[in-house]
Amino acid sequence: MVNAIIAPSMLSSDFANLASEAQRMLNCGADWLHMDIMDGHFVPNLTLGAPVIESLRKHTKAYLDCHLMVTNPLDYVEPLGKAGASGFTFHVEASRDNWQELVQRIKSKGMKPGVSLKPGTPIEEVYPLLDGENSVELVLVMTVEPGFGGQKFMPEMMDKVCTLRKKYPSLDIEVDGGLGPSTIEAASSAGANCIVAGSSVFGAPDPAQVITLLRNSVEE
Ligand code: DX5
Ligand code: ZN
Repeated sequence: MVNAIIAPSMLSSDFANLASEAQRMLNCGADWLHMDIMDGHFVPNLTLGAPVIESLRKHTKAYLDCHLMVTNPLDYVEPLGKAGASGFTFHVEASRDNWQELVQRIKSKGMKPGVSLKPGTPIEEVYPLLDGENSVELVLVMTVEPGFGGQKFMPEMMDKVCTLRKKYPSLDIEVDGGLGPSTIEAASSAGANCIVAGSSVFGAPDPAQVITLLRNSVEE
């Protein structure tokens, strides 16, 4: 089977204290730090880019799981590679014409390539990206409309996770949006192993307890 990976979404952190917030999450048992990169165009919100990743990298060796909610992901490969990103997950909706080149470049910069899909995009769209030479190593199934933290989990997305898990037993399948103690069971039993959680972790009085609970549910 696949390992449980718990990735707090730093979108819910105090951006003015990003380095200490990152360290706090690692001390609480986080495996990865999920970094939401939004361009104000692919989604109606603007967050951070390569300069912030570069600054954070100076303070931590942690795996920086970058989720690119941008219209032109290709433009971000070089700068994010240089900045020290670990994973580069782009949206299938933004890369229909150039995903092969994109995956190739991401790999050449030493990052782990992943593909994400919005709630309205059928799972079949990512199949071509999972077969052959330039394949991605992670699929991020969005369980909210991308753009903002704190939204409600969409349980109907679990059909995508089930279908994917049956077809790819050892693939990293990540879920993102509305994950927390009340929704983790649906995601883990469907077969998700990478869990992104923003508001449920940062909003908890004891984030370590939430991270442990999420991990236990995946490992059950
Ligand atoms: C939403 C982002 C998520 C978000 C998750 O577009 O991709 O990573 O921060 O936040 P919660 O866990 O609060 O839904
Ligand atoms: Zn995200």
